[in-house]
This record gives sequence, C-alpha cells and structure tokens, in this order.
Amino acid sequence: MPTFRVHILLLLLCLSASTSSAHKQLNKTGTAGPSPNNMACKPFYPIIAFGDSTTDTGNQLREPVSPAAHPPYGSSFFKRPTGRYSDGRLMIDFLTTALKEPFLPPHIARRPHFASENFAVGGATALSAKALHKLANVTSLTPESLDRQLLGFVYDTAHTNLSDALVYFGEIGGNDFNYALAARRPPRVLETLFVPIAHEISHSLHTILKHGVSNIVVQGQFPMGCISVYLKVLNGTKTDKNGCIDAVMRISDRHNHYLKEVISNVSKEYKHANIVYFDTTAAYLHILQNAAKYNFTNVKEPCYVGGLEMLLASTVSTASFSPAQPQHKPIIKKEACKNPQNYISWDGIHLTDAMYGTMMKLFLTDSKFSSPFPNFLTKCTKTH
Ligand SMILES: *[C@@H]1O[C@H](CO)[C@@H](O)[C@H](O)[C@H]1NC(C)=O
Ligand SMILES: *[C@@H]1O[C@H](CO)[C@@H](O)[C@H](O)[C@H]1NC(C)=O
Ligand SMILES: *[C@@H]1O[C@H](CO)[C@@H](O)[C@H](O)[C@H]1NC(C)=O
Ligand SMILES: *[C@@H]1O[C@H](CO)[C@@H](O)[C@H](O)[C@H]1NC(C)=O
Ligand SMILES: *[C@@H]1O[C@H](CO)[C@@H](O)[C@H](O)[C@H]1NC(C)=O
Repeated sequence: MPTFRVHILLLLLCLSASTSSAHKQLNKTGTAGPSPNNMACKPFYPIIAFGDSTTDTGNQLREPVSPAAHPPYGSSFFKRPTGRYSDGRLMIDFLTTALKEPFLPPHIARRPHFASENFAVGGATALSAKALHKLANVTSLTPESLDRQLLGFVYDTAHTNLSDALVYFGEIGGNDFNYALAARRPPRVLETLFVPIAHEISHSLHTILKHGVSNIVVQGQFPMGCISVYLKVLNGTKTDKNGCIDAVMRISDRHNHYLKEVISNVSKEYKHANIVYFDTTAAYLHILQNAAKYNFTNVKEPCYVGGLEMLLASTVSTASFSPAQPQHKPIIKKEACKNPQNYISWDGIHLTDAMYGTMMKLFLTDSKFSSPFPNFLTKCTKTH
C-alpha cells in the first residue's frame, strides 16, 4: 500500500512545514467484591475494544510502515515492540489487568477459541475514509475506520452470547481532526466534521447494544492541544492556563461535548445498558496540574523523538515523488530517554506506560474522572 507511505509523509511534511513557517478486581470466583451495593461481580466475557493507536495492541503491524514495530517501542514493559504506540502498556492493558484478565489480542492475531479481541487500529478514523475524503478532502492513513472495525465485531461475534461482554470504546475521531489539521484545512472545514463523527459513534454504539452488549466504557478524547507534537509545531500560538494550544483544545473539547450527548441519548434508549464515560481530558489535565505528585518531571518533551523523524527519513527515500524537502534535517535518535516513567509523552503523539497507567487508575478510583461513579467496573477492578 504505497499510498500509506505517501500520506504519512505528507502528514509529517505538513507538520514540519508548519514548524518552520511558525518558527516559532475482577473477582472471578463470583464472590462479592468491595461493591457499593454488595453485588457479585461476574467476569466479563468476551472483552472487545475499538479505537485508534491509543488502544491498538498490534493491529497496525499489518500496515507496511509501522513505527511501533521497532525498538524502542515496548521497551519499558514488554521488552520488545508489540505494535503498541508506547514504551509499554496502553490504558486498555491496565484495564484488563485490573480485571485480572489477559491482554487483549489484536484482531489480526485472534485465537480461534478466545473470543476477546481488539479491533483498534493506529491511524483509524471515526468517519469512513470515503466520508472523510468527501468532507475534508483528506486521505486517512488506514482504511480501518470505525465502521470497518464494527463489521469485524459483528462477523466475529455472530455465534457469541454477548450478555456478559465488556466493550471498551477507545478514543476515535481524533485522527479525523489530525488529518484535517495536518492538511491545513480551514476552520470551516473542521466545523463540518463534528456532527458526522458524532453520528458515526452513535450508530456504532447502537450496533453494539443491538447485538446484546450491555456493559460499555466510552473513552473521551485526549486534550489535543496538550499533545507534544502540537505544542511543537504550533509553538507561538495562543495557549491556555495549562500551556495547551487553545485553538486545538477547542476541537477536542467540542468533540467530547458531542460524545457525552451521544452517550446521554443512547442511554435513554437502552435503559438496561451500563455506559460509563472516561473523562480523558479531565484526567490528563489533572495529572498535568499535579505532575510532581505523579513523578512526571517532563510534561511536554517526548521521551523518544526518533519514531516520527525516522519514519520521515524512510519515507523521503522511498516516496515515488519529490516533495519539498523539510527545512531542517531530521534528528535520528535511536535511543529513548533513560527515565520514561518521568515523561508524559512517549513519541510526541502517544503517551508513556506510566501516563496511561496513571490515567486508568484515576478512571477506576476517582469519581472526578468517570461517570457514573461508582459504576459496573469499580466493584470488579483492583488497582495497585
Ligand atoms: C483536494 O486536495 C488536493 C490536494 O491537496 C487538491 O489538489 C484539490 O484541489 C482539492 N480538492 C478540493 C475540491 O478542494
Ligand atoms: C446468554 O447468557 C445469559 C447469562 O449468562 C443467559 O441468561 C442467556 O440465556 C444467554 N442467552 C442465550 C441466547 O443463550
Ligand atoms: C517554543 O519556542 C521557545 C522559544 O523559541 C522554546 O524555548 C521552547 O522550547 C519551544 N517549545 C516547544 C514545545 O517546542
Ligand atoms: C441527542 O438527541 C437530541 C434529541 O433527539 C438530538 O436533537 C441531538 O441531535 C442528539 N445529539 C447527538 C449528538 O446525537
Ligand atoms: C514516585 O517516585 C518515588 C521514588 O522513585 C516512588 O517512591 C513513588 O512511589 C512514585 N510515585 C508514584 C505516584 O509513582
């Protein structure tokens, strides 16, 4: 799929071009856990996840260019690259561990008799590639958008009783905006994306519920304006009190507003359903504001700057056309920092094992970051 490379290249070139121009517990036995209402906690089975690179446990490895297939990705925890965009575990990994369940296998490595699986794919969008192209004239890095992930789910679970299933609906929709921003689409184009993305997510939740799932976690979007790469390429533009890029924050805040409205609408329709919202932005900002308490001494710089630059270098040499050269030579750093546990950002876009773990702990233990709280998960999980 050569177009993949071309588009990664375009994405990165656009990002670097704007830099220079701006210059600037589960109680498996079924006995009562520490439950608020003392109800037994049944094991969830199967556990299914959807989303983008922040939830992908290895699906993106099938793409021709996958930075997460190379060291030092995975170095802190797995000691080898697994396709996860982090030095270690993702939030879904911390959740399954808290439930005393194994890590979710990616869909591409699904074992025949183990129904739990993860459909999330790095680069995935909420809108189909076709819809995104039509609305914003941008091309997604992967065709595995939310609708395709749902098709896989419907197919794979056709003979599975889903009444005890848990669905983790990871972040999705961020890339739709990332692609449009990287292609420098004007605000009026970004504006056209919110409602169709909300509809796509709403449609997906309906599909999941109609197939008999009643336990769903919906993870909100990360605070886009705090993501390291945006801080770098938009350095010099207006920031908010947390030091995050104001204009980009407004995108994720607005998307999350729609997301909460979708959950509220869907919950009214499916009264038996337990839908929990993880307020990813609130948890991230809380950690940012209390960084020292959580041992994060480096809140903006990524621990590893080689992944994206290295990809840029490889795409420049393999691309079948001659793009304008970036103004500065990429710095290829093969080594990550020595102390990733003190960093929030792993590779400029994705977060460290330490950050994902801290966030999941907040979702499972602190009423400020999940709603409702307590919920169907709090009595089933054990965090250390
Ligand atoms: C879509 O983008 C391409 C390449 O960026 C450009 O050549 C084309 O004119 C755009 N089409 C529309 C309808 O804006
Ligand atoms: C699915 O499982 C639930 C609970 O384990 C059970 O009550 C229900 O009858 C099952 N449904 C079917 C169609 O087998
Ligand atoms: C933004 O620019 C300032 C001044 O040039 C520099 O000191 C700072 O490190 C830059 N921040 C980022 C995140 O690149
Ligand atoms: C939620 O439902 C209301 C009332 O039906 C509707 O107007 C609104 O568009 C829905 N919101 C979303 C984000 O789907
Ligand atoms: C922070 O680091 C110290 C010293 O390494 C450790 O004792 C403490 O448990 C850490 N705190 C968190 C929240 O990880």
